[in-house]
Amino acid sequence: MTQDPRKPILVLGGTGKTGRRTVERLTTRGQPVRIGSRSAKPAFDWDDRSSWPAALDGVRAVYISYYPDLTVPGAKDAIETLAKLALDTGIRRLVFLSGRGEEAAQETEEALKAIGAELTIIRSSWFMQNFSEAALLDPILAGEMALPVGEVREPFVDADDIADVAAAALTDDRHIGQLYEVTGPRLLTFAEAAGEIAATTGRPVRYVRISSEEFRAGLAAAGLPENLVRLLDELFTHVLDGRNEYLADGVQRALGRPARDFSAYVREAAASGIWNPA
Ligand SMILES: NC(=O)c1ccc[n+]([C@@H]2O[C@H](COP(=O)([O-])OP(=O)(O)OC[C@H]3O[C@@H](n4cnc5c(N)ncnc54)[C@H](OP(=O)(O)O)[C@@H]3O)[C@@H](O)[C@H]2O)c1
Repeated sequence: MTQDPRKPILVLGGTGKTGRRTVERLTTRGQPVRIGSRSAKPAFDWDDRSSWPAALDGVRAVYISYYPDLTVPGAKDAIETLAKLALDTGIRRLVFLSGRGEEAAQETEEALKAIGAELTIIRSSWFMQNFSEAALLDPILAGEMALPVGEVREPFVDADDIADVAAAALTDDRHIGQLYEVTGPRLLTFAEAAGEIAATTGRPVRYVRISSEEFRAGLAAAGLPENLVRLLDELFTHVLDGRNEYLADGVQRALGRPARDFSAYVREAAASGIWNPA
C-alpha cells in the first residue's frame, strides 16, 4: 500500500546502534522521522504502555527495535501488543529487528506475521558494533575479553548494513513480506575478532575463554542484577552453541550488494578513536 510521504516514520530505539543509523539514512533521503525512545519527545517507553499511543500518532511506518533484548520475558507480548496498536491506529508498515537462532525472537516473528501487517523481518546475527558501542568496549579497552565462548564462529554483521536494509524496507514496498537473514560475509571466533582488533589498533586485546560459572560470578560481582546476569549468560552460551555458524544472504538480497566485512568495520572503528585509551 502506498504510504503518505508527509507522515513521519517512527524509529524505535532511534538513538541506539541500528536505530540511530536508520534515522540518519531516512533523514538524508528527506524522509520525516520520529525517534521512539525514553529521551525522545514524545517519550516512548517499552515499560510504560501509556506512552505508546502518542508515539504512534500520525506515523506511517514503524521500525521495531526492542529493548533490552528479545529474549527477556515479556518481550513478545510487548512487541505484539504494540504492533496491534499500530494496526488499530491505521499503520500497516512494520519492520522488525529480530535475532538469529533465538527461540523467543522467532516466536515473536510468528506472532507479528499473524496480525496481518505489511511486515519485513530483519533477522540479525551479532552486531560488530557490540565491540565498540556496547558491553565489549570496556574489556577491549582493558586489553582482555573474557567470555564463555570457545571455538564457535559467528558471522558478525555491521549495524550500518542493518540500517541500510531497515531504511530500504521502511520506504520501498518491494520489501513487504520478506524475511532477510542478515550476517557478515565471514565467520569469526571471538578470539579471531579480538586478534583483528589488536592487529589494527596495535594494542593488546587478549581473548580468554572462561566457564559459564566464572562469567556469571564476574557479572554478579560487578553489580549486575540477577536477571541481566541470566540474560547475558543465555546470550553467550545458548545462542552461541554453534547453531548460527553459517552465513546468510539477507544483505545481498535486500540491497543487491555484499555485506561489509569485519576488517572494514575494525579499520573504521579504530580510525574513529573509540578504542584509544582515555
Ligand atoms: N546487539 C546484537 O548483537 C543484537 C543482535 C540481534 C538482535 N538484537 C536485538 O536488537 C535490539 C536492540 O538491541 P541493542 O543492544 O542494539 O540496543 P540499542 O538499540 O543500542 O538500544 C538502545 C536504544 O534503546 C532505547 N531504550 C532503552 N531503554 C528503553 C525503554 N525502556 N523503552 C524504549 N526505548 C528504550 C535507547 O534510548 P533511550 O535511552 O532514550 O530510551 C536507545 O535508543 C534488541 O531487541 C536485541 O534483541 C541485537
